[in-house]
Amino acid sequence: MADAAITALVEENGRVHIIRLVDESVKIKGIGVFNPKTTMSDVEFGQEVQIGSKIFKHLPPRLPELIQGMKRRAQTIGSKDAGVLITRLGIGPGDVVLEAGLGSGGQSMHLSRVLGASGHLITVEPREEHSAVGLENLQTLAQTLSEFPMHSHVHGRIESNVEEIRTISANIDAILLDLPEHTSAIEAVAHLLNIGGRLSCYCPVSSQLEQAWVACEASGLEVEWAGEIIEREWGKASKGGVRPVNGPFGHTAFLLIAQRKN
Ligand SMILES: C[S@@+](CC[C@H](N)C(=O)[O-])C[C@H]1O[C@@H](n2cnc3c(N)ncnc32)[C@H](O)[C@@H]1O
Repeated sequence: MADAAITALVEENGRVHIIRLVDESVKIKGIGVFNPKTTMSDVEFGQEVQIGSKIFKHLPPRLPELIQGMKRRAQTIGSKDAGVLITRLGIGPGDVVLEAGLGSGGQSMHLSRVLGASGHLITVEPREEHSAVGLENLQTLAQTLSEFPMHSHVHGRIESNVEEIRTISANIDAILLDLPEHTSAIEAVAHLLNIGGRLSCYCPVSSQLEQAWVACEASGLEVEWAGEIIEREWGKASKGGVRPVNGPFGHTAFLLIAQRKN
């Protein structure tokens, strides 16, 4: 049987629900019990639909909706950092990208969107409870995108699976690491990078950044950029005008980008 189509329902407060249009009663947290196929059959994109006591806007499931409505287990990288990593690593169609750990698949979803059908994403994750969520999120994305990269998944620690990764692809254009400890991973996989390719580390605390920096240099990579992306949201003021919103001005992680030059 073909997979059911996927769509997005957005609450007034912005909360996004990613819905499979199956023809059966389902219970969805934040919505309740309903039959998605019959409920949505005549609801066009842009129209509103009432389910129980709530009103939802029906929208196509583009990447931002899919990211907001994704399942989460391990902490995910937000779009603020994911986008910068993709740009600074120069990732695009046709590239082979190695990513560890997969976690909930947040970064993988951003990568899949830009790699296109000609790209290849290799993900690595040792914890099955994390990869179950990450792989499900990628499967949902694959069903909604018109183009999706080839995807290979390796179960285990990246350091312990270097030969398997090399067998999957001997040409890696970019490596993204989001791990509790980067040193041993950098030492294990830096040499897999094509000359000119770049590696990134996502480091929540400064000691991780320093250790990653030292490990990159020890592994023959040149650190090209390290720092933090600071995002400041603006909103409409109640008495007119726009201004920075009140609210947390939080920290996510320090990013490090290193290049293999020889
Ligand atoms: C913070 S999560 C990654 C989140 C992911 N970047 C996202 O955006 O959803 C870190 C993941 O790395 C995995 N991990 C830890 N050590 C690892 C290793 N040596 N090799 C591969 N993955 C590892 C953890 O199990 C965890 O799922």
